[in-house]
Amino acid sequence: MKKDFLKVLDFTREEILAIFKLAQDMKANKKKYAKSLEGKTLALIFEKPSLRTRTTFDVGIQQLGGFSIYLSPAEINLGKRESVYDVAKNLERMVDGIMIRTFGHHIVEDMAKYAKIPIINGLTDYSHPCQAMADFLTILEIKEDFKGLKLCYVGDGNNVAHSLMGAGARLGVDVTIACPRGYEPNVIAYLNVKEAAKESGAKIEIVHDPVEGVKGADIVYTDVWASMGQEAEAEKRKQIFMPYQVNDKLMSYANPDAIFMHCLPAHRGEEVTDSVIDAEYSVVFQEAENRLHVQKAIMYELMK
Ligand code: CP
Ligand code: NVA
Repeated sequence: MKKDFLKVLDFTREEILAIFKLAQDMKANKKKYAKSLEGKTLALIFEKPSLRTRTTFDVGIQQLGGFSIYLSPAEINLGKRESVYDVAKNLERMVDGIMIRTFGHHIVEDMAKYAKIPIINGLTDYSHPCQAMADFLTILEIKEDFKGLKLCYVGDGNNVAHSLMGAGARLGVDVTIACPRGYEPNVIAYLNVKEAAKESGAKIEIVHDPVEGVKGADIVYTDVWASMGQEAEAEKRKQIFMPYQVNDKLMSYANPDAIFMHCLPAHRGEEVTDSVIDAEYSVVFQEAENRLHVQKAIMYELMK
């Protein structure tokens, strides 16, 4: 296992499945792991807001017998009040691991390079690997096997889309990104994923017609149209993305037993209607809960 958890593609299929196995055991037998990281401390650096990531890392480390310390944007002011290097060299002497949510992906990479302790990516502009891990654990719980599955992500080719493609490529799940022209996933991310998919046989593709994308999908996934840091573009994006709204009509093209997923927070009435997110087939809160279990397994593997 690597020192850090920065992106899904850094891990092999076997390592990912081992994390899922441990997460499932932690979910079923919470008490068994109550002292697994006894006395260990995790720093939580946030440069963007969060509900799920903050809560699940905080509660997760406590459930393993450890502690967390929350460092808000105002406290660290990464790269301005103090350089990434200096923050890394300080914190490695004080805590046992760092979870960081920030803007540029290079910041988590630099932190991982400078610090001797594990760094966990809690979302960058480029990727959201803990989210994809929770999502694929959820898919495994519901569908029981990854074989032959197709996931269609409808919307912006963003951080979440990149991590879902990475997980699909490793685990052999076909991933179709249905997005407007000009909002495709990052080219490098796409090429890396295509290369990784050769081994698993997963089909990774980009289409611009949401109906075409959703046809034959077992999982329909969406995310906000304007991510954190893109607030100024929100109004313009609403016009462009409206044809990509996941509503009853779009869901009707998916397989009859398709599930709906969303990393949350959701902008109801924009990327998804209430009728879809509140439907029986929506598993959004199961995904959110699985953040806790899968991150406990990741923390344990890196910090034990
Ligand atoms: N899905 C997710 O990461 O949620 P938060 O932004 O609330 O942490
Ligand atoms: N793409 C979203 C995900 C939030 C969890 C964002 O970066 O804001």
